[in-house]
Order: sequence, then C-alpha cells, then structure tokens
Amino acid sequence: MLKFGAPWALLVVSIGWICWQNVQINELQASRHKRELNSNWLPGSNDDDNTIFMPIYAQVSKKHIRKVCMEHFHTFKHYHREVEKKVIDPLPKVPASVKELKRKCSAEVSFGQPVLIGERKNPDGCAYLDGGHWHVCEMSHGYTMLSFKGNRRLNSSETRAVQFLPYPFDGTDNMVYNNTMYYSEHDRLIAYNLKTEKSNSIHLRTSLDPLYANSTSRLDVQAEEHGIWVLYRRRDENILSVSRLNAHNMQIVSNWTLPSIDTSTMCNSFVRCAILYSVECDGTVTPVYDFYSHTYIQGRKTVWEGLSQPIGNVQYDPNSRAIAVYANAKIYKVPVLQ
Ligand SMILES: *[C@@H]1O[C@H](CO)[C@@H](O)[C@H](O)[C@H]1NC(C)=O
Ligand SMILES: *[C@@H]1O[C@H](CO)[C@@H](O)[C@H](O)[C@H]1NC(C)=O
Ligand SMILES: *[C@@H]1O[C@H](CO)[C@@H](O)[C@H](O)[C@H]1NC(C)=O
Ligand SMILES: *[C@@H]1O[C@H](CO)[C@@H](O)[C@H](O)[C@H]1NC(C)=O
Repeated sequence: MLKFGAPWALLVVSIGWICWQNVQINELQASRHKRELNSNWLPGSNDDDNTIFMPIYAQVSKKHIRKVCMEHFHTFKHYHREVEKKVIDPLPKVPASVKELKRKCSAEVSFGQPVLIGERKNPDGCAYLDGGHWHVCEMSHGYTMLSFKGNRRLNSSETRAVQFLPYPFDGTDNMVYNNTMYYSEHDRLIAYNLKTEKSNSIHLRTSLDPLYANSTSRLDVQAEEHGIWVLYRRRDENILSVSRLNAHNMQIVSNWTLPSIDTSTMCNSFVRCAILYSVECDGTVTPVYDFYSHTYIQGRKTVWEGLSQPIGNVQYDPNSRAIAVYANAKIYKVPVLQ
C-alpha cells in the first residue's frame, strides 16, 4: 500500500501546491486589474511602491496550469470547494481599449537564433530594421544613414539611398519606424521623417554617462506595438527611467522609474509587447519587466549564440516582427517565434 500510495500522495500534494499557487496568481491578477482600472492603462507611476514578483510559469502558461488544476480538482471534488470556486471565477472585466492593445501582440513568444545578414567595416555602428528595409550607420555619431532594401541588398552592400539628417545622431540605440527615424541628439529626442523630411523633437535631460556597458548611447529608443519607448537615466540620476511616447506628436504618455534594473552591467535591452528584455554582454536575453502589469518578472532566458562582441544595438521592429542586432561590424536578424 505504502509502496504504491507514496508517489500518488506526492502527486496529489504537488497538484495541490500548484493549484494553490494558481489561486495566489489569480488574486495578484485581480488586484493588478483593479489597479489598471483605477488608473487607465500604462499610467506613469513609481512602480516600486507595489512591486510584485511573479513565479516564472505564471508568465509562460497560465492557461495550461488553470486547465490542469480544473481537471484534477474534478477528481478531488470533496477537496476545497472554495478554492475551486475561485479558480473558475471569470477574470475581472477589462476595458475594451485594453483588450484591443493586448490583442495586437502576445507576450508568450520565444526568440530564434541570430542570422548573419551582412557585414560593415566599422565595429562601431548601428543597424535598424523597418519592415523590409534596413537602415545602417557607420559610426556612433554622424549625419548620414544608409538605406538598403531587403536582406540580400544589405548583404551585397547595394545602397538604395543615403539619408542626410538635419541634426547629428548620438549613440547607436536609435530607431527607424514607419520611415521615421527617432534619435538622440544632445538633450533631445528627434523624430525625422525620412520621406517628408519633417522633424519634431522632445527635450529629455539625460545623463551624460552611457546607458549600457560597451556603449556610447545616452538613451535607447525602441518602437513596439504600443508606440515609442525611451530608456534613459535622467541627468545626475543613476536609475533607469522609461517614458512611453505617442509616435505622432512626441508627447510623453507615461513615465516609469525602475531602480531594480541596472543597465550599466548589460550590453543592451529592448521592448516588445510592453515587456522589457535585458541583453547581457554574452548574448543572454531575459524578460525583466512587464509594463502592462507593472511587475518585475523573472522570465525564461534565451542565449543568442555566436554573436560577435561587443553588442552595439538591439532593436525590435514590430512591422517585420524581428530584432535587428549590430555587433562588432556584423549585422544580425533574430526572428520572433509565435
Ligand atoms: C552574406 O550572408 C552570408 C550568410 O548568408 C554571410 O556568410 C556573408 O558573410 C554575407 N556577406 C557579407 C558581405 O556580409
Ligand atoms: C506603422 O505602420 C503600420 C503598418 O502600416 C501601422 O499598422 C501602424 O499603426 C503604424 N504605426 C504608427 C505609430 O503609426
Ligand atoms: C514624465 O516626465 C517628464 C520629465 O520629468 C515630465 O515633464 C512629464 O510631465 C512626465 N509625464 C507624465 C505623463 O507623467
Ligand atoms: C563589454 O562590457 C563588459 C562589462 O563591462 C566587459 O566585461 C567586456 O570586456 C566589454 N567587452 C568589450 C568587447 O569591450
């Protein structure tokens, strides 16, 4: 009896424990949704007042765990009626606009391995992907950007256009999104439409120290499904600030301060689907913060193998759903796997 009973009992205890965790997660989510409802989506706030660490699997397969719990609770019906009731409670109502934003992208993705697309001469440079187009710079400071149509033309260096910018760019962590280049110039973030040649800007008093290891960038501008994000440290401050901008008028929509994230030891980072990913100098990519729920997360790591060192820029492109990497004169593309 003991011989066959013990593993069975262990299974029951394990399932019970997982389900108890699931109830905890549901409670966390309920309070998180309540916060969202009280404060619109993505409000500016100091998130460290209410930091929540979520267990890893909560980020990965909530639905699956709920399903497992439901199935097993049916076989132990006498067991905690109340818990079961909580488990099958529908999720709190979410405003339609939030649903719309969430529908556009799923946080539950994995990243492929970097594919070498082309090579440049200068170890210091940048490469951005905007739909089917590449935009490349040859230095970490300058006025010109080279444009290439497609991977093959970048590989064979058949330049489609040379763009002259109205102000010089600083650093390598700039961005081209929907044919507009968003870039750092002293204390400004400039938006320059490469087609209409119209520009707009916003003043950001950023720290003079580089944001990342092995970098000259004072800020990192990223585009993703919800708009434009700027990662930087404010002047004379040592902590990471993040601002989300409206891409059309360059107004700040929300601000965050994330003191638990130290960018000075990482080589880069990027934002995708309202999740901040850190990129270590050895190519390890980790989801570290969820802007949607205002929580630090400890998600599944991906190791990008074979990247040249040091890493100069890592930018996600929502149009082609791929990540552009410039590392020591080599240009890579990393697919996002749904
Ligand atoms: C073109 O791409 C191939 C990989 O497909 C790579 O081996 C080669 O070095 C690239 N050529 C240049 C000039 O970057
Ligand atoms: C960028 O272009 C894509 C595709 O045309 C469009 O869906 C998206 O709304 C545009 N983004 C912005 C901020 O205009
Ligand atoms: C974000 O921070 C900037 C700089 O401190 C400030 O000017 C702006 O009003 C803030 N915006 C919001 C929406 O909190
Ligand atoms: C990049 O920065 C890391 C951390 O500061 C350092 O260990 C490494 O040597 C640097 N690599 C290069 C190629 O500069």
